[in-house]
Amino acid sequence: MKCPKKNIDKCAKIVASMSKKILQFKKWLKITKKFIKKLLKIGRKKMAKILVTGAAGYIGSHLCLKLLKENFKIIGLDNFSTGFLEPVEILKNKFSNFEFINLDLADEEKLSEIFEKNEIKSVIHLAAKIDVAESVQKPSLYLKENYENSVKLINKAVEFGISKIISSSTAAVYGNPVYTPIDEKHPTNPLSPYGQTKLDFEKYLEKIKNLNYVIFRYFNVGGSDSNGLIGKSHLKSNDLIENIIKTILGQKPEFQIFGSDYQTKDGTSVRDLIHVEDVANAHFLALQEMEKHKLNTVYNLGSESGYTVLEILGQAEKIAGKNIPVKKQPRRDGDIAVSVATSQKAKNELNWEISPKNLEKIITTDLNWRKKHPLGYTK
Ligand SMILES: NC(=O)c1ccc[n+]([C@@H]2O[C@H](COP(=O)([O-])OP(=O)(O)OC[C@H]3O[C@@H](n4cnc5c(N)ncnc54)[C@H](O)[C@@H]3O)[C@@H](O)[C@H]2O)c1
Repeated sequence: MKCPKKNIDKCAKIVASMSKKILQFKKWLKITKKFIKKLLKIGRKKMAKILVTGAAGYIGSHLCLKLLKENFKIIGLDNFSTGFLEPVEILKNKFSNFEFINLDLADEEKLSEIFEKNEIKSVIHLAAKIDVAESVQKPSLYLKENYENSVKLINKAVEFGISKIISSSTAAVYGNPVYTPIDEKHPTNPLSPYGQTKLDFEKYLEKIKNLNYVIFRYFNVGGSDSNGLIGKSHLKSNDLIENIIKTILGQKPEFQIFGSDYQTKDGTSVRDLIHVEDVANAHFLALQEMEKHKLNTVYNLGSESGYTVLEILGQAEKIAGKNIPVKKQPRRDGDIAVSVATSQKAKNELNWEISPKNLEKIITTDLNWRKKHPLGYTK
């Protein structure tokens, strides 16, 4: 557009009118986007169901919450071996689109019944045993629970014509990093039966023909629901944040730091922490993507920022407004100095984003939930 010479007033009017039109267009675009989102949500209500295993567990319950809010119909499965009834009851009371079945994945007959009776579109598989130390003591239990039961579930799903699968894996499949940040092409070399059984199941999935699947390798997951509806609770926990918070609340006399002589900026190990809501959102985005394209792929889910244990502790002290007593201990066997992911692939391909002020959000949401539930879940 040419601005008429010596006629600044006229030019300003044209610019003002154009700006108004752009603003109107932006407003219209926003309303249309909202409308389309609403239509999609209404559509989902009529859609087939999604089966979520491990739904009574920490990540499973937060994932169900996200998908229920997005109006998906969910059937949650769990045998309560490490999961809890409380989050299940909370979700059942709040959402009519949530159904829950108490079931051990080893029960193939009951699994068949569930697939027969319900129109299931996708399976999201989180149920697993997750205690690395226990896996070293009881490798055959981990083989049965994490590999054999997972194979049974997926075979059953495929038998009933389900081709969309999302499965939870772990950073433990990588073992000691050869380079950081760790990308999906990093060599795998698990150091524990836990990591090995997870990797073996990944390989099993990869071999099934015509499957539309996503494997998510989570790094350390933390945080609770931002609205405080459900939270992070494990029966037995070596979890860094859970232990820091228990020390803040006076449930533990001190926070133990294992290893202060690593080759890192302050000698303590470096960890990558990711908020559970970001993990849940990645699953939601993957479900949407799988509607459009066939996927057969692995994504890391990490925050891409490594924090030393002392940095995490410092942030927790700032949020809690008090000093946290600390006891320095020697390194533990099997602990890795630095474990940091690059999640660029999930960002590029799924448009996934990590919450801003990630570490602060993890500590704040966990602390807020624990203040209201000092013992975690009790049933
Ligand atoms: N928490 C993390 O930081 C983390 C990191 C990496 C990967 N993961 C993966 O995420 C998934 C969920 O982990 P989480 O932290 O929520 O653990 P969790 O122990 O809270 O949840 C696991 C759930 O699976 C259920 N379950 C176990 N065996 C079952 C069976 N045979 N039948 C039915 N249900 C069974 C348990 O009762 C529990 O509710 C796991 O696959 C784990 O390997 C977790």
